[in-house]
Amino acid sequence: MSLPSTEQLISWRRELHQNPELSNHEFATSERISSWLQQSEIRLLPLGLKTGVVAEIGHGEPLIALRADIDALPINETSERPWKSQQPGVMHACGHDIHTSVMLGVAHHLKQQENSLPGRVRILFQPAEETFNGARQLIDAGALDGVQAIFGMHNAPDLPLGELRTRGGALYANVDGFTIRLQGKGAHAARPQEGIDTIVIGSQIVTALQALPARMFSSLESVVLSVTRFTAGNTWNVLPQQLELEGTVRTHNDAIRTAIPDKIRTLIQGIASGYGAEATLEWIAGPPALINTPRWAEFALQLAQESGYRTRVASPQMGGEDFAFYLHHVPGTFVSIGSASPYGLHHPAFDPDEGIIAPAVNYFSQLAPRALALVSHRSETGAQQ
Ligand code: NI
Repeated sequence: MSLPSTEQLISWRRELHQNPELSNHEFATSERISSWLQQSEIRLLPLGLKTGVVAEIGHGEPLIALRADIDALPINETSERPWKSQQPGVMHACGHDIHTSVMLGVAHHLKQQENSLPGRVRILFQPAEETFNGARQLIDAGALDGVQAIFGMHNAPDLPLGELRTRGGALYANVDGFTIRLQGKGAHAARPQEGIDTIVIGSQIVTALQALPARMFSSLESVVLSVTRFTAGNTWNVLPQQLELEGTVRTHNDAIRTAIPDKIRTLIQGIASGYGAEATLEWIAGPPALINTPRWAEFALQLAQESGYRTRVASPQMGGEDFAFYLHHVPGTFVSIGSASPYGLHHPAFDPDEGIIAPAVNYFSQLAPRALALVSHRSETGAQQ
């Protein structure tokens, strides 16, 4: 078996890109990944997953994990590249095809040094990152059992090729959603005094919610609250009886995250009851903030520098990433690597530079054995990871 060439890595990426599949429907993708791995006799773990693949290379202890996400988005690709999506309305617009081909390359590199690997490396090809439930599926299936550290990457279209960033502590946010339902009383638009106008109350709720982060939490804490849907009414001369608002709250601090639903509830019920309406809040808890283990973040940056990346300490972001679930169970770190796309993530013309792939393969191929050696050393010396 020979190491995959850059052309091979790119051809895997293009095949994945042409055949994107939505979250939890990555059937053909999983088959492709399995067959590419099995061609090189890389062993797969029988975890009974519906979609997704878990491979393992090496023997004995310790055990670390690498993760790539494999799902695509419901977006119609507008690029004119010959390898553009062949599935109308589905597109690898977040570059998970890039992440997958990187980890395929890493698997082949590690396979070649399997006998000298100081432990085992498990590679998680994870489904359903975009819907934030893939990591939990893998954890429930046992993919994290015995893992002592985990690493992953996301391409960053706003960074140039050859740049890698991460930071210890919070990198991405807690991602929660909410739905607010208002019950008023319908009336003729010409006689509002006979009804309870959900549109006026809803508007006041939107405005009040905008003040909540700034007036209930320290300005030194990061809190974003966005209302993203405001739905009521059917016509021009009727005041609607019901109204629905939807939105998201992003935070880094768990105490603030926990406090927010009650504050929203009190606020909306106060406003609604002032008008005789009723307001209810449905809180939809999403993935937790992604908190990198500081010493693994330092390790990842140091190694990146040694392998030729320009490195910077990342700024925390308000987006979400379901890699966070793994980091709630085991230490590790997640890194951003420049992919220099003129269009951002989730844009229909997103077009990452494939030059990101080969250096990232080299990087993680070095990172895995170095991390294994460090884990062994730390457990021998009794140090906390
Ligand atoms: Ni993504």
